[in-house]
Amino acid sequence: MVTGAGSGLGAAYAEAAAALGAAVVVNDIDPALAADTAARITHAGGSAAPFAADVCDWDQAHALINSCVDRFGGIDGLVNNAGILGRLRPVNEETQDVARRVIDVNVLGTTFVAIHASRAMVASGTGGAIVNVTSGAQCGYALHGIYGASKGAVATLTYAWAVDLAHQGIRVNAISPGAHTGMLDDAIAQLRSEAGEVADQVGYEAEGGEHPELSDNAAVVCFLLSDASDELTGQVVRVDPGYVSIMTHPLVAEPRGHVAEWTVERLATAFRTVLAGNLQPPGLAVGKVKDLRPLH
Ligand SMILES: NC(=O)c1ccc[n+]([C@@H]2O[C@H](COP(=O)([O-])OP(=O)(O)OC[C@H]3O[C@@H](n4cnc5c(N)ncnc54)[C@H](O)[C@@H]3O)[C@@H](O)[C@H]2O)c1
Repeated sequence: MVTGAGSGLGAAYAEAAAALGAAVVVNDIDPALAADTAARITHAGGSAAPFAADVCDWDQAHALINSCVDRFGGIDGLVNNAGILGRLRPVNEETQDVARRVIDVNVLGTTFVAIHASRAMVASGTGGAIVNVTSGAQCGYALHGIYGASKGAVATLTYAWAVDLAHQGIRVNAISPGAHTGMLDDAIAQLRSEAGEVADQVGYEAEGGEHPELSDNAAVVCFLLSDASDELTGQVVRVDPGYVSIMTHPLVAEPRGHVAEWTVERLATAFRTVLAGNLQPPGLAVGKVKDLRPLH
């Protein structure tokens, strides 16, 4: 099952998995896009069935997973890819409607599909693999607050579900992808129009140019779905041009400041001394995520 597989990265994941022999349910909120991807797979000799559904509708998510079980006899792998960017805005210009929709699709959609899929996987007793989709924006890119928060939530869900489901033989990992897609075009268009001026004001640097190929990301997803990664769970795998890496889990950084007396003055001293080297870099530029190193 690949959600949001009517275009972009999701279509690449569905086509690559089918080329490796998977029978794929191709989901998208747009029925015509889902049908197109499924038709390309079938014409190439693969096995695919389109299923239009909005992932953040509980009943539609349930019907989506049921369609996979009914059509193909079960669900072995889920790529929780459907997601939206929303509007690139500073928090003071964010709107209720956009903020709610981004969280609905990216967090609740990912969650609802995973709930139904994991129930079917547990019922089958044969395990499975879930690949969630996060983003470098979880680190806090300027103008990407809600989108980044939604992807930070997806990373946290990945860590938690990996533990929840390990004893059922279900692995849960995530990809932090990159590719030139409709979503990237949308981001670039926004930065060239309404978001451009504020991007300059907040010092947002959009790194242009190089992106991994769709097929690079698809290879990572197929690896994470397959038995070749059977020892991996709870990992967020980052794709950059020519490089694969692991995104770090949030940790309590060492050294900690011992506090004998909880006063403003003592805390100010701790922040000036023992914690000074641990302060985190807010407002990362796109593409700079890889320059960070975990604190030990
Ligand atoms: N393109 C990148 O560089 C990049 C970087 C980081 C993360 N991502 C993530 O990768 C995923 C795919 O991104 P993309 O660039 O291919 O985007 P895209 O906009 O090109 O494609 C997303 C697809 O999801 C579908 N979709 C949207 N809302 C849906 C819903 N509620 N239910 C079902 N389908 C829905 C859309 O119709 C579209 O076909 C997203 O989760 C995105 O946040 C992309």
